[in-house]
Amino acid sequence: MESPPPLSGGAAADTGRIFDPSTYATGVPFDALARLRQDHPVVWVAEPPVLGWPGGPGFWLVLRHADVTQVMTDPRLFSSSLGGTQTRDPPTPDALRYVRRMMLNMDPPEHTRLRRLLTRAFTPRAVARLEDRIRDHARGIVSRVMGDAETGRCDFVKDLSAELPLVTLAEILGVPVEDRMLLFDWSNRVIGYQDPDYQASAAFDPNTGTPMARQASRLRPLPGPDGAMPDPRTREGMADLYAYAHLLAEEKRRRPGDDVMSILLAEIDDDGGRLSVEEFENMFWLFAVAGNETLRNGLPGAAIGLLDHPEIQDELRREPALLPAAIEELLRWWTPVMTFRRTATADCHLAGVAIRAGQKVVVSFTSANRDEAVFVDPDRLDIRRSPNPHLAFGFGPHFCLGAHLARVQMRALFGEILSRMGRLQPDGEPVWLQSNFQRGVKRLPVRWSPREVVPT
Ligand code: HEM
Repeated sequence: MESPPPLSGGAAADTGRIFDPSTYATGVPFDALARLRQDHPVVWVAEPPVLGWPGGPGFWLVLRHADVTQVMTDPRLFSSSLGGTQTRDPPTPDALRYVRRMMLNMDPPEHTRLRRLLTRAFTPRAVARLEDRIRDHARGIVSRVMGDAETGRCDFVKDLSAELPLVTLAEILGVPVEDRMLLFDWSNRVIGYQDPDYQASAAFDPNTGTPMARQASRLRPLPGPDGAMPDPRTREGMADLYAYAHLLAEEKRRRPGDDVMSILLAEIDDDGGRLSVEEFENMFWLFAVAGNETLRNGLPGAAIGLLDHPEIQDELRREPALLPAAIEELLRWWTPVMTFRRTATADCHLAGVAIRAGQKVVVSFTSANRDEAVFVDPDRLDIRRSPNPHLAFGFGPHFCLGAHLARVQMRALFGEILSRMGRLQPDGEPVWLQSNFQRGVKRLPVRWSPREVVPT
């Protein structure tokens, strides 16, 4: 397929920076996004070889809020299934077939069936139970970090952010808590494929897990002669995850628990069918990854907003009722998931640009969430912003299924931190994830002072 004529000068340099994963190891190129949003709101981005991967055909990057929502609400024209939802194409037709078995990479009506089954599995009782447990876990995490000391220091990522998404996911999936570090390693391997620090994550110690975990861990793929792990977006690359999901499904069918996945396995769909084991395995993959790294980046991202704005920390201590709106604004401001991909199913136009059938269309939530046509003074962190139609959780039929639980976790953790710790301050340089997909933080050293009585 023909690519459009090359861009000239500054715009070409801007798209090059936006594509290159190494750019994000030093920060998000907001200046480049703003310039393009102004002059080239739907812009062609070349895909040269990077990080040892071959080059790709290029893609259209969609930068404005209105155009992003249009793409996200029209799966007939902008498909999640045709080429999957990651910017980089799956390496082989087999790999594409494999990712298309996951709900994230389906279009209606297949997507609608699985989505309906899952939505029903989150029964009010299961959700209420999860919410209580999340608050308990958040309290426990902050207590462990604080100990008896009034002041202290820690790595916000490792000590305050990593555990909550893991224990929450373990509750949803019915994974025994001693196996939770498997979820940590799996999502690192999948999301960290752009960052050498995460690729071979091996925090789980099989000696501490269940027999199920030990059995699955024997299938953990080994690094190749070049030290790289096999592609995590193939079934072979995640053989240990699939083995574990299979054993877990058998166990849940034998002895259902009150977790969401047990409810899901017992459900009958509208045509009288059930979730197949393969569908369960893919659902397990999706949750294990989608519900983990996103929050492990969203929590420290929100913390950075509060570190940059100590006056907001004080305001939230004085008026805790502002916390839910503050979390929304922190999600907009940080935007943990920066992009998602669709593929055009037919020739069409978007913002006056001609798009050909089969071309990749990548939406930038990061840019849409800073669109000055929708958000006044978009770079400002304004916890009283209302309305706040941010797109951090996507939009349309694939809107994040975990959005409610992500919000509950963020509110629970920051509620605990703000009510029990004094002012949070930076305690060293943060280290950013190298990725053009997730806006990630690998290390965020912080310290806190004794809790003062905040004047009202
Ligand atoms: C701050 C945290 C999170 C962010 C920023 C986030 C972001 C997103 C986004 C942007 C999408 C849309 C993908 C698309 O349109 O193709 C999505 C989908 C999804 N998310 Fe999240 N997510 C978060 C947390 C979670 C959690 C905690 C869970 C699970 C408990 C979860 C489960 C899912 C699932 C299952 C989907 C696929 C939905 C579908 O295909 O219909 N996410 N998420």
